[in-house]
Amino acid sequence: MKDLDSKSNHYKENSSKELISFTTLDGTLSLRSNKYRESFHCETGARKEATEKFLNPAEISQHPNKESITVLDVCFGIGYNTGVLLEPSQRRDLQLKWWGLEIDKRPLQIALKNKTYRESWSSRELRMLDSINSYGYWNEKGFEGEIIWGDARKGIKEIPINNRFDLIMLDAFSPVKCPELWSAEFLVNLSQRLAKNGRLITYSSAASIRKTLRDSGLEIMSLLPITTNKQDWTSGTIGIFPGSEQIKSNSSHYFRPLTIMEEEHLKTRASVPYRDPSGNSTSYEIHKRREAEQKSSSLKSTNSWKKKWINA
Ligand SMILES: C[S@@+](CC[C@H](N)C(=O)[O-])C[C@H]1O[C@@H](n2cnc3c(N)ncnc32)[C@H](O)[C@@H]1O
Repeated sequence: MKDLDSKSNHYKENSSKELISFTTLDGTLSLRSNKYRESFHCETGARKEATEKFLNPAEISQHPNKESITVLDVCFGIGYNTGVLLEPSQRRDLQLKWWGLEIDKRPLQIALKNKTYRESWSSRELRMLDSINSYGYWNEKGFEGEIIWGDARKGIKEIPINNRFDLIMLDAFSPVKCPELWSAEFLVNLSQRLAKNGRLITYSSAASIRKTLRDSGLEIMSLLPITTNKQDWTSGTIGIFPGSEQIKSNSSHYFRPLTIMEEEHLKTRASVPYRDPSGNSTSYEIHKRREAEQKSSSLKSTNSWKKKWINA
């Protein structure tokens, strides 16, 4: 989903060999990682993606909490998902208690040196980003936040267990490139940290991710597509506890129950989870483990599902 057409002429400047900055079609900055061979955001817009795939379905202005919400940003990167949450129109008078997880300090350092990036934020948003970069936390009237630098699999354990999140945004590189942050163990860990009326949001619609989230006790809904392109049948997944106030209202403009096609996807081998029992497996080990499990699985082949629904 985050792959960028290598023939794109939107690449702008080379910030380092491993991380290349480019301007997306909405005029905001993104980075491409040569290590993961994926870009941080869709080419159509970094800020646009954060708004459409995370901020809008979060609907924080309607959250039943009266005073504050607690947010976890998994894979902070250059901070768009959190940055857009700070837009004044979004917050009512809600206080924001925030945690971020990110392994690499360089993306934010590179972005903060870029004029386009700095100019795309209000002064308050920029103060937050500068503070996270310099001190790893920020604290200003109404906002309190701390980032835990390092592998998110370990970082999540450093957040005191009594913190329950009203919003978890999971924005790792794709499961193919970064399976360690999509393992059943990590996803279950995140689900267990969700508050009663919380939302776990990700751009991924992979069957393995949806199935794991459902098995962990969450009700899974499909984020409505953003484009009218027939192949874009969803823009991601939202997980909510059954019976939460959010589900009862069932009137979101941003998500809906899974379609028959999506339900059938969860009955194919694509739904076999990524497994990381030790919490420190390499991506190679996780892929090998899953391949072996898929081979011996009695689930339907994903190709037959594709023939029926995608290539029909
Ligand atoms: C798709 S980008 C996130 C984009 C980000 N949400 C933004 O708005 O800029 C994925 C991020 O995951 C980070 N990452 C990769 N492996 C990680 C790990 N094991 N733990 C934490 N972060 C990781 C990368 O450094 C990268 O910043």
